[in-house]
Amino acid sequence: MKQDLIVILDLGSTQNTVLAREIRDLGVYSEIHPHDITAEELAALPNVKGVILNGGENRVVDGQEVQIREELYGLGYPMISVDYPQSKCSNCLSALPDQEALKKFLFDTCKAETNWNMKNFIEDQVELIRQQVGDRKVLLALSGGVDSSVVAAMLIKAIGTQLTCVHVNHGLMRKNESESVVKVFRDELHANLVYVDASERFLGKLAGVADPEQKRKIIGGEFIRVFEEEARKLEGIDFLGQGTIYPDIIESGTKTAKMVKSHHNVGGLPEDLKFELVEPLKQLFKDEVRACGVELGLPHDMVYRQPFPGPGLGVRCLGAITRDRLEAVREADAILREEFARAGLDKKVWQYFTVVPDFKSVGMKNNARVFEYMVIIRAINTVDAMTASVEKVDWDVLERITNRILAEVENVNRVCYDMSPKPPATIEFE
Ligand code: XMP
Repeated sequence: MKQDLIVILDLGSTQNTVLAREIRDLGVYSEIHPHDITAEELAALPNVKGVILNGGENRVVDGQEVQIREELYGLGYPMISVDYPQSKCSNCLSALPDQEALKKFLFDTCKAETNWNMKNFIEDQVELIRQQVGDRKVLLALSGGVDSSVVAAMLIKAIGTQLTCVHVNHGLMRKNESESVVKVFRDELHANLVYVDASERFLGKLAGVADPEQKRKIIGGEFIRVFEEEARKLEGIDFLGQGTIYPDIIESGTKTAKMVKSHHNVGGLPEDLKFELVEPLKQLFKDEVRACGVELGLPHDMVYRQPFPGPGLGVRCLGAITRDRLEAVREADAILREEFARAGLDKKVWQYFTVVPDFKSVGMKNNARVFEYMVIIRAINTVDAMTASVEKVDWDVLERITNRILAEVENVNRVCYDMSPKPPATIEFE
């Protein structure tokens, strides 16, 4: 193993991730684990140099004070505590009040080396994946999003064709998106990739469904069914790769912190399809996942892409999805992205997309009255997607995009710019 490891045990602190990042910033890899980790589990982690007991305000869970197992002391790792009563930690060195004390702990006490970097992280994960998987097979749902793409690249490096990727095109992808997944993973990385064009099936199920939550349910449920059908066709698969990253774990709730929202990448597979999980990114933060993708050789565009909702263009073709409006939203989105890139806004703006509502307005084309759809442009900036402000897009850029949409996208006679911050508007319309 290339990297030394400092383990942070979550004893109720709300600052676990801050501390983990602080240690990584000092060049040492650190991971956060639950307080009730067993001695066996802790001993199985590679290259542990020291353990930090990170206490804090969530110290009581279900009426019980969180504590580490006594057996951990027997492992002999250097331990230090943060906001965790000294009296409870029989062999803790001292409390950890500031960065100088942290450095002293890492480098003097634990003798940790500054060997945390993406190259070493990847080498270690490759070795761990090979140990876990052996000569068996892994299945991965490859959406083409950042996390699943980086996991795919990591697994291809580790186990090559023992990995089967399944890419389900639900017909709600952006222009050329599925094509680029196939090009990068099948043609360039030589992945064993099953491409399923399920567009017709999804559009069929969605026909006439106008309620946003119902649409999401259908898309999510159908996705699992298509993936399940593909999984059943493959023989001898024991593992499921997943692009879980650390923020997913936090948002789903840790043992000491409440759930923010439930996360599932490929949740809800039936009971008889039991797989062991392979989750090599689960200790990484989003920026680290991107850096990992770059180091693995993925194209910049794939790794630094803006967020895109799982239900795809399905929630941007408002109301009951129709083919003509879906096509309009897809073409307009492609134009928007092209022009934003040309103006350098793709690197500046957090998220930008088009929406097509399910009503028409009157217009004039070639001296004749037309009754057609409108395209709404939305471009926002945010830090955490909880609140958002509207990008003040240059007028000339907006004009160019508008002219192109009106000239190139069928069934559209009007373009609007959404000026609404979040709140009260959400980022998406549905
Ligand atoms: P809202 O619309 O709630 O969006 O302000 C916040 C962020 O979440 C994205 N989003 C989704 N992502 N599945 C996803 O994976 C969804 O159903 C979904 N809905 C919204 C949205 O694009 C924005 O970045």
